Amino acid sequence: MLGKNKGDKMGVSEENVLAALSTVIEPELHRDLVSLNMVRDLKVEDSNVSFTIMLTTPACPLRGKMEGDARAALARVDGIGEIAIKFDANVPSDRRINTQVGQLFRNTIAVSSGKGGVGKSTISVNLAIALAQAGARVGLLDADILGPNIPMMMGIDQMPPPRDRKMVPAEAFGVKFISTGFLVKPDQPLVWRGPMLHSAIRQLLTDVAWGELDYLVIDLPPGTGDAQLSLAQAIPLSGALIVTQPMEVAAADAMRGLKMFEKLDVPIIGVVENMSGEFFGTGAGQRLAETLRVPFIGSIPLDANVRIGGDIGEPVVVTHPDSPAGQAMAAMAQAVAARVSVLTLASQTDFIPIQMIG
Ligand SMILES: Nc1ncnc2c1ncn2[C@@H]1O[C@H](COP(=O)(O)OP(=O)(O)O)[C@@H](O)[C@H]1O
Ligand SMILES: [Mg+2]
Repeated sequence: MLGKNKGDKMGVSEENVLAALSTVIEPELHRDLVSLNMVRDLKVEDSNVSFTIMLTTPACPLRGKMEGDARAALARVDGIGEIAIKFDANVPSDRRINTQVGQLFRNTIAVSSGKGGVGKSTISVNLAIALAQAGARVGLLDADILGPNIPMMMGIDQMPPPRDRKMVPAEAFGVKFISTGFLVKPDQPLVWRGPMLHSAIRQLLTDVAWGELDYLVIDLPPGTGDAQLSLAQAIPLSGALIVTQPMEVAAADAMRGLKMFEKLDVPIIGVVENMSGEFFGTGAGQRLAETLRVPFIGSIPLDANVRIGGDIGEPVVVTHPDSPAGQAMAAMAQAVAARVSVLTLASQTDFIPIQMIG
C-alpha cells in the first residue's frame, strides 16, 4: 500500500507513456505513432501528460480516430491524470520535385479525366481550396490549354505584375494559382503543340514565384495527349487523380487515362466520381476503381450550387461548405491528402520516420 501511494506521488513516467503510445497504429501508414516519430513535445508533469501528434497532412481524415486510440491506450497507464493532445502537420516531401524543377513543392497532384465536361476543373478548384482550408499551403496550375477556365472559377481573370522577372501567381481563397489562360488573349486562340506546349508548361512550373507549397494541384486538359506527356516529363508527379462521371461510357474513357499514367510511371491517387445522383446515376466510378484496383476516393453529387459557383467564381466549398456537395468535396480532399502522404513516403527510397523528411 505504501509503495502504491509513493508511486502515485511520483506520477507517470515518460517511458510508460511512450510504451502506451507505441501501441497506437497510424491507420494509413500501418506503423505506430512512436516509431513514425509522430509524438512530439511530450511533457509529463506528475500524472498529467501533454504532447503533439505530428500528422503527415493537415487535411488528415483520421485525426479523431488517432486521438481516440491514443486516449484509450493512455487510459491503461497506471495513475494517468489529464491528457492534452494537440495536432500539427508536416507534409512529407517528394524530394525528386525540388531536384528536378528547383521549386519547393512537397507534392504534385495531377487532376485528369478521359474527356471534357466531367468536372475536372471544378474538382481541381474545390480540392485545392479544401486543402488550403485545412491549413495546407496550396498552388493550383491550370494546364488545360484547351479550356483554361480556372480563372473564371476562382473569380480572378489576370495575374499580378511580375516581380524580379518571375511571374507572380494570382491568389484567391487561400490558393495561389496561375493559368495558361493568363498567357494568351481570349480572342487570340493559340494552337499549342509539341515543343511550345512543353516550354509553356515548364515555364509555369519554374518561372513562377510559387514559394513553398505542400501541394501543387494541376488541372490537365482532358484525354491522353501531349500535355500529359509534357507534364510527366517536366516534373515528377506524386500522383494522378482521375475524375469520371457515373456512367459506364465515361468510366471507359477514364480507364484510358488511368492506363496512360501507369505507363508513365505516375502513381494513381484514385478515382473520384462527379455529378452522382438521380440524373446520371451512381456507381461507375466505384466499379472502375475496383476493376483497376485503385482507391475509390468518393462521389460528388450533382448540385446546382456547384455549377453556379463555378460560373460566378464562388466555389461550393467556400459558399456552401455544409451542403452535401461541399462536404463531399472536403472529404475528397482529405482522402486525396491521406493517399498522397502514403504514395510520397513510399516513393522515397530511404523511407524512414517523418522527422527526416521536409
Ligand atoms: N457536381 C457538380 N454538380 C453540378 N454541376 C457541376 C458539377 N461538377 C461540375 N459541374 C459543372 O459542369 C460543367 C463542367 O465542369 P468543368 O469542371 O468545367 O469540367 P471539365 O474541366 O472536366 O471540362 C461546369 O459548368 C461545372 O460548373
Ligand atoms: Mg476544365
